[in-house]
Amino acid sequence: MAEKRAVETWDDVAGMENTGEVLIPADPLDRVLGQEEAITLAKIAARQRRNLLLVGPPGTGKSMIARALSLNLPKPRQEVRVSQNPENPERPFLEVIDEKQVNSEARAMKESVGKLLEPDHAPKNVAQRLGYLCPNCGAYSSPDEFTCPQCGKAKIEQKTGGSSPFGDIFGMLEAAMPGTMNAGKERVNTTRINSDGTEETVVFERAGDSIRMLDTKALEKRNKLQSKSLSKTLVKLDRVPFVMATGASETELLGDVRHDPYGGHAKIGVPAYQRVIPGAVHEAHEGVLFVDEISHLGEMQRYILTAMQDRKFPITGRNPQSSGASVRVDDVPCDFVLVAACNMQDLPNILSPLRSRIVGDGYEVLVDVAMKDTSHNRAKYAQFVAQEIAMDGHIPDATVAAVEEIIKEGRRRAKLDNQSGCLTLRLRELGGLIRAAGDIAVMEGAELIDAGHVIGAKKRSMTVEEQIRERYGSFQKGMASDVSSSQKETSPYYLQNEHIDDQMFN
Ligand SMILES: Nc1ncnc2c1ncn2[C@@H]1O[C@H](COP(=O)(O)OP(=O)(O)O)[C@@H](O)[C@H]1O
Ligand SMILES: [Mg+2]
Repeated sequence: MAEKRAVETWDDVAGMENTGEVLIPADPLDRVLGQEEAITLAKIAARQRRNLLLVGPPGTGKSMIARALSLNLPKPRQEVRVSQNPENPERPFLEVIDEKQVNSEARAMKESVGKLLEPDHAPKNVAQRLGYLCPNCGAYSSPDEFTCPQCGKAKIEQKTGGSSPFGDIFGMLEAAMPGTMNAGKERVNTTRINSDGTEETVVFERAGDSIRMLDTKALEKRNKLQSKSLSKTLVKLDRVPFVMATGASETELLGDVRHDPYGGHAKIGVPAYQRVIPGAVHEAHEGVLFVDEISHLGEMQRYILTAMQDRKFPITGRNPQSSGASVRVDDVPCDFVLVAACNMQDLPNILSPLRSRIVGDGYEVLVDVAMKDTSHNRAKYAQFVAQEIAMDGHIPDATVAAVEEIIKEGRRRAKLDNQSGCLTLRLRELGGLIRAAGDIAVMEGAELIDAGHVIGAKKRSMTVEEQIRERYGSFQKGMASDVSSSQKETSPYYLQNEHIDDQMFN
């Protein structure tokens, strides 16, 4: 197959066999068609940590730009944890840890695992007590096997010779319920005399097929880590710096503390710090918080405003009936870049102090519904077709003629938006057309998507309203031919739809 090439003009495309030769740009911002102003602002926003409000119709790339912006941000440098507060368990400690410390902890953890030994390199009595070595025949096997695969006897030490009744009892148990019994212990403590005469405790543990050996130093390290590990990581250092807030609930946006029926009781309950859950605002720390259809958040917009002003937001139980309500962690960091999106109609429903906050510390931009029909932009349409095919993964590449057919459709759709001489940027819908054409090609067993498939898909992807218009000449005529008077009155929507229409039009 020919080498992939970037396409800048239509001539670059015209010389290709199919869209499989189009190089898809590595930077996700370069995969966005048109929207030059929005992309310039997204680059500034990423560099300077500014907010962005993207306004415009659906399917024109707003979410795509938000996601691409997040990938242009520097990698997160902080990890956020909560840990046990022994004095007051319902006020867990907050720990904000930097990259260096997280990495050094990971190193210490590695060192604390001690040394792994092959079972036959461990002292014989240790290997036997841990259940690796068969005391009867001296063969090594996994401690999960209660009976020795070599001699078939129980790997338990038989102090009274071969006739111990216990050996048989264990053997029977194991035969009845395989895997329920282990040979030997999990852990063996030994003492070692060092060359300088000092005594040292050395611990041997089972570690799968190997034996773990921990000397005093390794044991100390492990104890230190264990006492520290009374903590829960809320926001990992290694994370995707893009979080979408759907506004489905306050919990999702702001976090929560889960209920514990035992009220965090010291013995039988779940400690408060383990029940703390971060919200989208916290997970977006150092990254992008993307709020699609921001006006749909209603009153919750206030919380976003507060979070942006303070750059931290407490986590507390949101259900007053829950035992989580008495738990609270203050000042949990949430320093995010806000990218919000909405339709033009929804602009008045954005909380005005929030809007002025976004603009005061960022930009708002009206995204384009169409771009000029130039050689460069036609080439970008070919790139778009290649991108959609690659993303879908189930449809073949498209021929140049198929791309031309899609360009025609792009022109037609731009006209519907009163943008003549342009190509539409309502690309979500056009992506649907490409997939539909691809499905037709697949069902036909064709190797490539061709112009004919696109034309077939156009027919198939017409909305029902368009189909009615095509078949009956006009939408009204179609309706009239379909609804009988008896249907009118029995329809559950009679009062809401037709009846009102009757009043309005008769
Ligand atoms: N400007 C664009 N450039 C390239 N692809 C686009 C563009 N706009 C939309 N798409 C395609 O449509 C899909 C949906 O777009 P999206 O970014 O979710 O639109 P919006 O957020 O404006 O509703 C994208 O994942 C992409 O496949
Ligand atoms: Mg979207």
